[in-house]
Amino acid sequence: MVSGVAGFIGSNLLENLLMFGQHVVGLDNFATGHQRNLDEVQAVVSEEQWNNFEFINGDIRNMTDCQRAIEGADYILHQAALGSVPRSLKDPITSNDVNISGMLNVLVAAKDAGVKSMVYAASSSTYGDHPGLPKVENVIGSPLSPYAVTKFVNELYASVFYRAYGFKAIGLRYFNVFGPRQDPDGAYAAVIPKWANATIQNETIVINGDGETSRDFCYIDNVVQMNILAAVASDEASGEVYNVAFNARTSLNELKDLIYNYLQDLVPHIAAPKVQYGEFRAGDVRHSQADISKAKNMLGYDPVHDIKSGLKKAMPWYLSHRKNNY
Ligand SMILES: NC(=O)c1ccc[n+]([C@@H]2O[C@H](COP(=O)([O-])OP(=O)(O)OC[C@H]3O[C@@H](n4cnc5c(N)ncnc54)[C@H](O)[C@@H]3O)[C@@H](O)[C@H]2O)c1
Repeated sequence: MVSGVAGFIGSNLLENLLMFGQHVVGLDNFATGHQRNLDEVQAVVSEEQWNNFEFINGDIRNMTDCQRAIEGADYILHQAALGSVPRSLKDPITSNDVNISGMLNVLVAAKDAGVKSMVYAASSSTYGDHPGLPKVENVIGSPLSPYAVTKFVNELYASVFYRAYGFKAIGLRYFNVFGPRQDPDGAYAAVIPKWANATIQNETIVINGDGETSRDFCYIDNVVQMNILAAVASDEASGEVYNVAFNARTSLNELKDLIYNYLQDLVPHIAAPKVQYGEFRAGDVRHSQADISKAKNMLGYDPVHDIKSGLKKAMPWYLSHRKNNY
């Protein structure tokens, strides 16, 4: 069962699982996901593979919806949540309801149904204000946003379920995931789709701060690989959290140039984006880079795509999904 299946990461998991011949039940309420993501998956898998998919339009805050989706499942890949630090600062109550109470529903339903394991989306935001680099799983600081609190509470619940009930839950601390189907629209869009879109449409890119803020950008294929490895992990690798990243750091100034370069490969006469620097954003960490040795050693994680090969793969999708002036 994949929760958040109509979202960016969920729909990429769905596509890969169906291609591997798996039966998938997906749960989503379209809060931030889209029917078009499911339609795109349908377009790239065979009819037989698509027939292995059952969609439940439901809400993880509703226990009955969770139980319905989980019934008969072997594995849970729990991706449903309200992402975005600014969204959580604006409306902490809804982020708390979905990300904490919703995840607790999924955990309880999964434990009661006797599923083999549950992998859940944790977040690099859990490192909070700890300045150390690279980030190692067992050294965290204080959360900087309500979103970070929700993702840390997810980890606490999962580890308690492992210790108290022996329930195999594994957390994946995603670091700035990007790739096809990541939503470029809306106030809470992530930086890569937002800037790709702005460059394509010849709009100004707004950089929060001086542009030297850096992130460990992680291509979606690496995330899919980690979900599958974690779902079938050994007992000793369970009840843990793992960084999911590439172990490299790219500044926002470098990022805007890379996006422009890869778009230029596709549209040679595209104009360089205009850039405007603004205030630093509340709740943001300054630098982020993951140590990924735990995932490598315990799960055999072997990330294939760095930021450059990931952007090269992702840009055609952004270009084909945007009307532009070229
Ligand atoms: N994308 C990243 O860089 C990143 C980084 C760290 C953590 N994460 C986590 O990964 C997960 C997936 O993120 P994403 O980038 O695919 O975001 P997304 O917004 O594209 O996907 C989230 C999905 O969850 C669904 N959802 C939200 N509330 C729901 C509810 N109450 N009931 C059922 N479904 C609901 C949404 O409709 C959406 O389809 C989230 O848990 C997010 O917090 C993502």
